Amino acid sequence: MSVISVVGGQWGDEGKGKIVDVLSVDVELVARYQGGANAGHTVYLGEKKFVLHQIPSGILREDCICVLGNGMVIDPEGLVEEINQIAEKNISVNGRLVIAHNAHIVTPIHKAIDSHREKGLDKPIGTTGKGIGPTYVDKFNRTGIRGTDLLNLNKLEKKLNSRLDDAIKNCEISIDLKQDLEIKIKNYLTVISKISNFVGNVYEIIQSHLDNSQKMLIEGAQGTLLDIDHGTYPFVTSSSPSTGGISSGLGLPLHKIGRHIGIFKAYCTRVGEGPFPTELFDETGEELRKIGQEFGATTGRPRRCGWFDLLAAKFSVHVNGLTEIALTKLDILDNFDEIKICTGYKINGKEMSSYSASMCDLENVEPVYTSFPGWKVSTVGFHHLENLPGKAKDYIRYLEEKLGIPIKIISTGPARDQIIEG
Ligand code: GDP
Ligand code: IMO
Ligand code: MG
Repeated sequence: MSVISVVGGQWGDEGKGKIVDVLSVDVELVARYQGGANAGHTVYLGEKKFVLHQIPSGILREDCICVLGNGMVIDPEGLVEEINQIAEKNISVNGRLVIAHNAHIVTPIHKAIDSHREKGLDKPIGTTGKGIGPTYVDKFNRTGIRGTDLLNLNKLEKKLNSRLDDAIKNCEISIDLKQDLEIKIKNYLTVISKISNFVGNVYEIIQSHLDNSQKMLIEGAQGTLLDIDHGTYPFVTSSSPSTGGISSGLGLPLHKIGRHIGIFKAYCTRVGEGPFPTELFDETGEELRKIGQEFGATTGRPRRCGWFDLLAAKFSVHVNGLTEIALTKLDILDNFDEIKICTGYKINGKEMSSYSASMCDLENVEPVYTSFPGWKVSTVGFHHLENLPGKAKDYIRYLEEKLGIPIKIISTGPARDQIIEG
């Protein structure tokens, strides 16, 4: 089968952008099915750095069509910035970008509600402030603005003004913001015409690619542990990054997908609040952040760092039906004397059998670690598994054996060619 999905196995930022870029070499179409500008996918084309938030990484491949699926929440202003960012590097999206007419649209009102909510919470979620949650709320409340609404500016303006009135009436934002938002809405309306011509019939595009067995890649954003259903609720995003979201987020039947590739960092990171059993608060955590350059691609926040969590990863393998793994950032572990993998959880001294059994009490988990000796040589840019140091191979084999599916791709640096493909 010629359709492959690429999803985040942890809390996001696993390197999905880079892996999609590598795999999109001879692919006709790359589609996103959920999330929005909360994502930050970093891809390097030689020396050129791209941080893509909404446009799939396939845009860097000539002739590859990129779809923003109905399951996404699209930020028009962010999208225009992104289009300009890549145009500056001589890549055009014309004729290659399609926004589903039934994708929902983020507005300045949703961003204001997002930040107002966060400020009012006793325990904030640490959202990206991109208006993701409030836009999905409107979607499920059946009051949202959709791609198709971008085609009629007069009607759109009325909808925006009415949504602003409602937001004030329902105390979703403070009345002090009204004037500021009215100005923002006026500016917002001026950018709509720059993207409305991308609104199209995604159903037909996907079906024709399926009918003709053309190669398709499905690019996930965020990660399984941030999934609205399967993640560390309420410290999650408001969409379904796990493979289950693909079917509804694109109108693409799951049985048409031949391979589900889960992307896992060789350790763990998390941005924002919420439980993280293997988080390191010591010098080792600081080292991981420093060497791994672990700062958010969207908000610039320092990412929380810790060791690989095997229990959470196993959960992710099962929930997504992963067929294989791409392990990224192996090179970041090159200089550690000792590398650990969390192989068990304890809560109040009691051994827990699995991640799911501990899910409601993750903040009280005491991780149990299995220790591995570091390989202490550089693996940067390695292309062949057999050339990796023995101890690195042991680390990979251990993960593979315990997770029960093959690690077919190993990433050994941020660049396109720093990759081992099995
Ligand atoms: P995404 O959101 O899953 O696409 O991941 P991000 O782009 O937010 O974060 C991954 C970061 O790691 C980016 O800065 C990538 O350039 C970088 N990266 C990806 N794979 C590797 C790797 O194997 N080694 C190193 N050193 N960096 C990598
Ligand atoms: P990529 O695609 C890492 C996190 C936020 C916050 C929570 C909810 O680059 O892997 P939201 O703005 O979605 O309502 O925030 O989810 N989050 C991410 N963390 N990578 C991402 O995307 C993320 N997108 C959202 O930090 O904790
Ligand atoms: Mg990211």
